[in-house]
Amino acid sequence: MSVAEQSCAPEPRVGGVSGRGRPAVIQGGMGVGVSGWPLARAVARTGQLGVVSGVALDATLARRLQLGDPGGHLRRALAHFPGPAAAERIVARYFVPGGLDPAQPFRPVPRLGLRPSQARTELTVAANFAEVFLAKEGHDGTVGINYLEKIQLATPAAVYGAMLGGVDYVLMGAGIPAGIPALLNAFAAHAPAQLPVTVAGGTGDQHLTSFDPASFDPASFDGASLTSAPPAGRPEFLAIISSAVLAGYLCRTEASRPDGFVLETPVAGGHSAPPRGRLRLDDAGEPVYGPRDAIDLDQVATHGLPFWLAGGYSTPQQVAAARSAGAAGIQAGTPFALCRESGLDAGLKRRLLEQAAAGTLTVRNSAHASPAGFPFKTAELAGTLSDADVYAARPRLCDLGYLRTPYQRANGGVGYRCPAEPAEAYARKGGLAEDTHDRRCLCNALLATIGLGQRRAGGWTEPPLVTLGQDHRCLDDLLHRYGHDYSAADVVGYLLGDLGDLGDLGDLGG
Ligand SMILES: Cc1cc2nc3c(=O)[nH]c(=O)nc-3n(C[C@H](O)[C@H](O)[C@H](O)COP(=O)(O)O)c2cc1C
Repeated sequence: MSVAEQSCAPEPRVGGVSGRGRPAVIQGGMGVGVSGWPLARAVARTGQLGVVSGVALDATLARRLQLGDPGGHLRRALAHFPGPAAAERIVARYFVPGGLDPAQPFRPVPRLGLRPSQARTELTVAANFAEVFLAKEGHDGTVGINYLEKIQLATPAAVYGAMLGGVDYVLMGAGIPAGIPALLNAFAAHAPAQLPVTVAGGTGDQHLTSFDPASFDPASFDGASLTSAPPAGRPEFLAIISSAVLAGYLCRTEASRPDGFVLETPVAGGHSAPPRGRLRLDDAGEPVYGPRDAIDLDQVATHGLPFWLAGGYSTPQQVAAARSAGAAGIQAGTPFALCRESGLDAGLKRRLLEQAAAGTLTVRNSAHASPAGFPFKTAELAGTLSDADVYAARPRLCDLGYLRTPYQRANGGVGYRCPAEPAEAYARKGGLAEDTHDRRCLCNALLATIGLGQRRAGGWTEPPLVTLGQDHRCLDDLLHRYGHDYSAADVVGYLLGDLGDLGDLGDLGG
């Protein structure tokens, strides 16, 4: 999309919810880059909450700069970054005018670790700033950013960058995000903050990942001090969880209490919580969920915080059902993942919509595909890693490392391992060989899914892997109403438009 094509005229507001009110629809964060800034911006302009994915933004920024930054959006955003010298270093390092030769591999970015280099930290801060800046450009709607608790090492610097960009909401799932409210409070005052890091087999010493705006002050490169600037806006924090027990745990202290919850069922796209108790698989190898996995909404409601329902809540009827159950609204991913503004590769999007139209779209819940260790939904699509032959043909390697986890080495140091790396390397690092079985390298696959797959020697490119929700009935309606090229505003209109019968739509704003 060129700058000229991006009209700054706001979309008509849908659903009677003001830009600053509580949203009825949250467009869920979808990594890597599926909910990039064009999608979040399009949703925010309807008056609902658009959420960019905060996962691996350093790599997507670096690779897009290497593709020549079509439209100049990233360089425009970086020109507003409060540390111009850092922004210049990033552009000098990664920008390739006219784009890399398609046979050339992308230049690597420094990997995550407990002691990140200055280059890694400034790339993380600037990339998160740029994504939020672009999503918020030219309108007054609200924008959130989504992180995975599992990727602990990236979080502090990434959150600070998003706050510099003016992010309105931070959402986090895939773990227990107890440290985030305090982190946001600290960063709002430009104070340092830290999060505990889990080190497998650790000696008991506490490991921390931290970020200090004073020691890494983007503006200090120009002699000014950001830390003496007025407090940054403190975003609202929504914890994405799947159990009322966890809601209670997070609410037990002020320091861990979020501002609301997204309550996600196991059919939601992406990762989901495993079933309670011992993992049982059905004949198709999918985790079996039962009554104990149902979320007790009444119990969640006792905390007095707003909540949104997610995972199959993507039809107007389900929005109404959520509202009747006391929710402020819903979070949807699947219908947005296939809309015009999503970052999903256009060819993959078209084939998935054709499958949906033909009634042949199948999404499985894989217990083992994700190195994160959580069940992960994968769409069956030839040529992607859902295909056993494509999976078997890909040499195992780990060169991005977002899902690597720290472990205690025998010599006292800390190493990093990922169950999707070569099995021998994982076992050598003390990992269980059986944990490597069936794992997909999501880091490389999800970048390929948005057209940023690494090009390898020998002329092959990393294969993609698509995640979607298992309840995709909404696609029948959307295809029927709008055809194969529907917009994010169409999705919002579809979800909220039919609620006219409910009377006061403004109530949806909570
Ligand atoms: C393509 C895709 C990627 C997703 N990636 C993430 C993610 O990175 N982090 C996250 O918290 N949720 C992720 N989700 C979940 C969505 O944010 C949302 O909660 C979910 O899609 C809602 O259920 P639905 O798929 O039935 O609409 C993803 C979903 C999809 C479809």
